[in-house]
Amino acid sequence: MKTLRTQVGIIGAGPAGLLLSHILHLQGIESIVLEKNSREDVEAIIKAGVLEQGTVDLMNRIGAGQRMMKEGFHHDGIILRFDGRDERIDFPSLTGGKKVTIYAQHDVNKDLIKARLDSRGDIRFQTRDVSIYDLDSSTPKIRFRDKQVSGTDEVTEITCDFIAGCDGTQGICRPSIPAGVLKIYERLYPFGWFGILCKAPPSSHELIYAMHERGFVLVSTRSPDVQRMYFQCSPTEKLDEWSDDRIWAEFRARLATNDGWAPKEGPIFSKTVIGMRSMVVAPMRYGRLFLSGDAAHVVPPTGAKGLNLAASDAQILARAITAFYKSNRDDLLDQYSTTALRRIWKATRFSWWFTSMMHSFPGADEFQHRLQIAELDYVTGSKAGATALAENYVGLAIE
Ligand code: FAD
Ligand code: DHB
Repeated sequence: MKTLRTQVGIIGAGPAGLLLSHILHLQGIESIVLEKNSREDVEAIIKAGVLEQGTVDLMNRIGAGQRMMKEGFHHDGIILRFDGRDERIDFPSLTGGKKVTIYAQHDVNKDLIKARLDSRGDIRFQTRDVSIYDLDSSTPKIRFRDKQVSGTDEVTEITCDFIAGCDGTQGICRPSIPAGVLKIYERLYPFGWFGILCKAPPSSHELIYAMHERGFVLVSTRSPDVQRMYFQCSPTEKLDEWSDDRIWAEFRARLATNDGWAPKEGPIFSKTVIGMRSMVVAPMRYGRLFLSGDAAHVVPPTGAKGLNLAASDAQILARAITAFYKSNRDDLLDQYSTTALRRIWKATRFSWWFTSMMHSFPGADEFQHRLQIAELDYVTGSKAGATALAENYVGLAIE
């Protein structure tokens, strides 16, 4: 068996793992990142699109923000569409100058991988059979096999000071914690999102979140000629029952306004159904294993919080690990879970609330629909209501 030593072993090269690795590197702390997928796959994954102001600031602070600032769309607000009309939430005036940036998750991954490799960071793609041991000792260990090379199937063991479980919802870190240690809080939603990518110019200068009796719609963007759109569907919706014509008819029906607005249509080249749930585990630590990002929590996508929570977890964990090495303090490690969970629960509440206000629930009647319109009318018509939405959307501060 080959053996290696590092300070922080990181499982998962998504936003949580890559950000943690790079922030630690800038503090002089070494890490090894293990990723089961290929670099090409990590750089092509179709996921989130909205970066909070704090995530944008972080990318810039760590020197990985150049392309994002040039190619991302910097938005000052969003449109809430309901009852056939549009109301705009203006972020800078409600939040002291903050905004959001539309920049795809695969581009964030790409920029972070480049930043890590340019600084001679150690990321191992296509690792197999990753497992973790001795979590409650001061030398936790990771074992894995490298990308299959003909004739070699050797196991490598890495001895670490800490392990960061950044391996998403389907990873091995959370299930490696002994039964009974974690409490899992969960809520399933009775709908999903049907997401498309299409070749067309943008339909709107800002994202449109539309509430309609037929169900929710989100109009987002990716580039001047590629658009990202979603409509609420059944969690078990079958992709092959949706021709392009049927999809566009559904978008047109749900996005119709009193003044005749229509989306710009074009060939659809990607279709996916995304399930919707909220999940939080507590604590986010077991011995020397720390969970970060989707490994510890999942939100429905409505508030665009998933990737941004991964970024805030990484910052809070990096701060705690840095205090351990630089100031011989372990109090921030002890507080990691409590500090991160306070922000996670607020984002979970916001995502649940925004989802509930914008979607049609099965069995809901006209009374329920009128209440949702009244809530949107209040939120968009009251400075207090609009401020609450704006503050949460651009991202709450990290304590
Ligand atoms: P991930 O990005 O999942 O990264 C985890 C990494 O760990 C992956 O690269 C994975 O391959 C790797 N890994 C897993 N197991 C192992 C193992 N055993 N060994 C080694 N590596 C492993 N959020 C939004 O805000 N808006 C959206 O529109 C949105 N859309 C989404 C669509 C989909 C289909 C999904 C699944 C999620 C979506 N999210 C969205 C959520 C958002 O993308 C996540 O919150 C974000 O990816 C979390 O980052 P992460 O680094 O914690 O996890
Ligand atoms: C996108 C996804 C979201 O969940 C959201 O709230 C806004 C935008 C997107 O993929 O562009």
